[in-house]
Amino acid sequence: MTGELDTFSLKAIPSILGEEVQAVQRSLLDTIQSTSSKMLAELGTYYAARPSKQMRPRLILLLAKATGSGYFFLNILIYFMTLSASASKDNQVSMKHTQLAQIVEMIHVASLLHDDVLDNAATRRGETSAPVKYGNKSTILTGDFLLAKLMSLAVSLESWEVAQEIPGIIGDLIEGEMRQAEGALKALRIDTFPIQILDHDVLWADYVQRIYLKTGTLFARSAKCSVLLHKNVSSDVVKAAYEYGRNLGIAFQIVDDILDFTGDDTLGKPHGNDIREGIITAPVLFAMKESPEIRALFARGFSQPNDIDKAICIIHSTQAIHRSEEVAMQYAKQAQDSISAWEPSPAKCALEELTRWITMRKH
Ligand code: FPP
Ligand code: MG
Ligand code: MG
Repeated sequence: MTGELDTFSLKAIPSILGEEVQAVQRSLLDTIQSTSSKMLAELGTYYAARPSKQMRPRLILLLAKATGSGYFFLNILIYFMTLSASASKDNQVSMKHTQLAQIVEMIHVASLLHDDVLDNAATRRGETSAPVKYGNKSTILTGDFLLAKLMSLAVSLESWEVAQEIPGIIGDLIEGEMRQAEGALKALRIDTFPIQILDHDVLWADYVQRIYLKTGTLFARSAKCSVLLHKNVSSDVVKAAYEYGRNLGIAFQIVDDILDFTGDDTLGKPHGNDIREGIITAPVLFAMKESPEIRALFARGFSQPNDIDKAICIIHSTQAIHRSEEVAMQYAKQAQDSISAWEPSPAKCALEELTRWITMRKH
């Protein structure tokens, strides 16, 4: 458990997930370090060993606990036990779930390594980025190395249904990154594009699709895989887990996009990064509805001095942040609703708590 989570209302999660998240982390570091290359071992663990929210492993492990078939009475018993005791041991997290959590975290780390090369990022989580410290070539190769390692781990799960989701996630991430780059070019040269591209609904639909591909897919598909690893789960439960992950992931990314304008120092990056790259996000879309001036700034590609600062000011002076927060909360609520029919359990409580924390986080 990282210290950073202690400052938020995630009480239900640490009480039922401490040791299991650490097991995922240990296994992840062991897998990455089993190589003859010192550089792959060092660079592979450069991001993976840093304290992080470990959202994706948490999601997978909690869903595994909340949906284990045949454990209804055990769940109820644990539920009542945890009302009086802070720790509970739940056997429903199998070795395969730990492996799945590791695979998904490895996809995440690989995508961050590639992302920092693509974005010319100087820092990651407040520290020197991998490409700055080790160079672009080694960083890209390490990302590829993690992908190769996780593919063989995915095969060892012995589930075709799960195994085929893994390349699906990676493909979606790449598509999302490419769509973002295409969208960013449009944003920077907005005057040269057909007028319908300025239509708010069209831009909003494009944004939601992009953030699904960029973030939602990893949450949604790994949530689905977690449930699929149980024997005899109904298709309704699989669908609910997928919807929970999809909505949670979209809410998570909208909050990320808000934090680009409001985040505190612990975020480790300057405000307005997205607009600097010409990326249209929820706060920008809401500001565009209220202020023609921000459209003009995009149209001229922020070419005049202080254009970025002006855009940030406009975003703060409109309802843009507030309205983006409302939409993030709607997605978080939809995530909660997706699993409302599930039996009560400590894990279900923690999943509900996770949806609340997502909308309240400050970094
Ligand atoms: C961070 O976004 C990056 C992602 C969520 C995904 C990036 C995906 C790729 C680079 C495609 C390749 C994927 C793999 C698995 C090799 P951000 O740049 O908006 O945010 P951040 O840098 O501030 O975290
Ligand atoms: Mg980036
Ligand atoms: Mg990026």
